[in-house]
Amino acid sequence: MRLYSLLAAAKINLYLEIVGSRPDGFHELIMVMQSVSLCDRITVRSIGVDEIRVRCNHPLVPADETNLAYKAAALVSQRFPGVMAKLGGVEITIEKQIPVGAGLAGGSSNAAAVLVGLDLLWHLGLAQGKLQELGAELGSDVPFCVAGGTAIATGRGEQLDPIPGIDRLHLVIAKYESEFVSTPWAYQTYRAEYGDTYLPDAQGWQERQAQVRSGEMVKAVAQRNAIALGQQLHNDFEKAVLPAHPKTAHLRDTMANLGGLGTLMSGSGPSVFTLAESEAEAESLVATLKLALPDPDLGVWTAQFAPTGVRLDG
Ligand code: C5P
Repeated sequence: MRLYSLLAAAKINLYLEIVGSRPDGFHELIMVMQSVSLCDRITVRSIGVDEIRVRCNHPLVPADETNLAYKAAALVSQRFPGVMAKLGGVEITIEKQIPVGAGLAGGSSNAAAVLVGLDLLWHLGLAQGKLQELGAELGSDVPFCVAGGTAIATGRGEQLDPIPGIDRLHLVIAKYESEFVSTPWAYQTYRAEYGDTYLPDAQGWQERQAQVRSGEMVKAVAQRNAIALGQQLHNDFEKAVLPAHPKTAHLRDTMANLGGLGTLMSGSGPSVFTLAESEAEAESLVATLKLALPDPDLGVWTAQFAPTGVRLDG
C-alpha cells in the first residue's frame, strides 16, 4: 500500500486531578480519559522524495515542522534510519474536524495517527506499546490517543490502565471559536494559585491514586452507570482557567443548567461538554443551547463515546 487513511479520535477528560509537581517539571495527574467519535482524518502517502510534508485544511494549523504530526514522522524516521531513503518520504494530509486549541487533544490525536500510519506504510511491525512509547516523547496525551477507549491515566498522563467504558454514550461539545487556552499557561496558573495544595511525594500520589481507582468515578464507569458518571465529573483546571475566561465560564454555566447528565470543561479547556442520555436528548440540548447563546462564534458538536483512538478509515 502506498497510502493509508486513518481516523484520529478526540478525547475528553471525565476526571482530571492535579496531584503534585514532578522532578521532571511536569505535573503528576490522575485522570479518566475517554475517546469520542469527533475525529480528524489523517492520510499518510508515500512520496518519491526523501522528505516529510504536511498539508492541512485548517488555517490555524501550521503545515510545517512545528506541527506535532510532522514531529511524529520526524521521530519515526530518526528511530529507523534509512527507512525513508528505502521506502520514500511521506505526505501527511490532515482534514480537521476537532476544534483546535480546545483541550480535546486534536494535535496529539493527529500525531498518534501518524505513528500508526507510518508503522503500516513503512512496514515497521511495531507493537501498540512501542507506538505509545514513541508517542510519550511527543506529548503527554499521545499514548492515550494511540489506543483510545476509556483509561485511567497517571504520571504525566502517559501511564495508562484501560478500563471497560460506557458504550457510545452521547454528548454535546461546545467551544467559542475565538477562545483558546494554552496548556502550559493553564498549568502555570494552576501552580501559582494551588501549588500549596500539592501532595509532596510519590507515596502521597500513590495513596491518592488508590483512592481514585476505588472511588465513585471509576465505579460509575465500571458499572456503566451514566447517571452516576454525570454526577462524578471533575476537572481541577476549571478553578484556574474559568475565572480568566468569563465567556467560557458562562458557557459552562449555561450548559450545566440545560439539563443533561453532567457538564465539565475538558482538559485545560476551553471546550465544554454535557453528557446526554440519548441521541434525542443530545439534539435537544444542542437546540436549547443555540437558543440560549445565539452567537455565531459558538461551535457546537454532538458525539458519542468511542472505543478506539486511531483506526483505519474504511
Ligand atoms: O506533554 P505536553 O506537550 O502536552 O505538555 C504541554 C505542557 O503542559 C508541558 O510543557 C508542561 O508545561 C505542561 N504539562 C505539565 N504536566 C503534565 C502535562 C503537561 O505540567 N502532566
